[in-house]
Parts: sequence; C-alpha cells; structure tokens
Amino acid sequence: MIFTEMFSKQMIAVRVEEVAAQLNADYAGQEVVLVCILKGAVVFMADLMRHLTIPVSVDFMQLCSYEGVNSTGKIDLDLDLTTNISGKNVIVVEDIIDTGCTIEFIRQHLMRKNPASVRFCVLLDNPVRRIDNCDKVDYTGFVIPNQFVFGYGMDYNGKYRNLPYIAALSR
Ligand code: IMP
Ligand code: MG
Repeated sequence: MIFTEMFSKQMIAVRVEEVAAQLNADYAGQEVVLVCILKGAVVFMADLMRHLTIPVSVDFMQLCSYEGVNSTGKIDLDLDLTTNISGKNVIVVEDIIDTGCTIEFIRQHLMRKNPASVRFCVLLDNPVRRIDNCDKVDYTGFVIPNQFVFGYGMDYNGKYRNLPYIAALSR
C-alpha cells in the first residue's frame, strides 16, 4: 500500500483548536449536546471537546451504509442517542463528508426529535463527490481533494484508525 501524509498531527491540532474557538464564540452562554458519529469521529471528538469551554454533554450515534445499486447507497441506524435532545442545541461531530448522504440522513433523523438547533462540525470535506447540494456543514476542518483518506479515527478496511495523522491513498 502506498500512501502519503496529508495532514500532520501538528496541523490537525492547530486546526481543531481553531474550530473549537469558533464553537466557543458561536455558542457562548448556551449549552450544547455534542453528538459523535461512531466510529470515525471518535478521535476528532475527543480532541475537539477538550478545547470547548461552553457547557457540553455528549452522546453517540452509529450508522451503517451499504453500497446499493444506485450511487446513493442505503443508510441504517445501528445506534441511536440515549439523550433527549428536545429543545437542545445539537452539534454533530463527524469525520468526513463525501456524498453528503450520511449527513442528510442524520439531519432528518435528529430533526424528528425536536431539537432547538442542529449544526454539523466535520473535520474533512471532500466536495467533489457531493450529491445533495450541501450547505449543511457549518464548521469544517479542512477541504480535501477527491482522495481516500484514513487515520485520526478514519479507517481503511477497518484498520489504521489509530494513526495520529491523516493519510491519503496514492493513486
Ligand atoms: P457520505 O455519506 O458519502 O458523505 O460519506 C460519509 C461517510 O463515509 C463518513 O462518515 C465516513 O465514514 C465514510 N467515508 C467517506 N469518505 C471516506 C474516506 O476517504 N475515508 C474514510 N472514510 C470515508
Ligand atoms: Mg463515518
């Protein structure tokens, strides 16, 4: 396997702190529920939340997607929230947005629970493959070219989530 480092541990640390500062400013005086999307966002969530100074509670969701016959695929919920988010400000923390289908599914699912607000904080944005016209991401770490990435929580065939940097497969 040939891969290159796309974002170093230091670059990620700097950017995560900047995104956290933006959240601290935007949500000053408010409480939020951080929703981590398992498994890929777990490292980003752990780093991000430790820079937040606003009062937060945390919860988790897990989804699975199947490559369907059509390009959009099918998404199912494996694990739902245990928190009641009715009337709460929710920030969904996700590793990467690619086609946008996963985030659209999450948004529709959460909106049925009557939150006060739902915003999306995504570490990586790969806009090339977007299907739904996406103004749904409110906070982005890095915009990336159309390459498969892994590390820093994200997997390549189930492995490499523990890499402290973000790698891209060379083509
Ligand atoms: P989307 O539904 O196409 O936006 O895909 C989003 C989900 O697919 C993310 O939550 C990731 O789990 C996974 N994914 C998309 N692109 C990559 C990648 O380059 N590396 C690892 N996982 C990815
Ligand atoms: Mg994911």
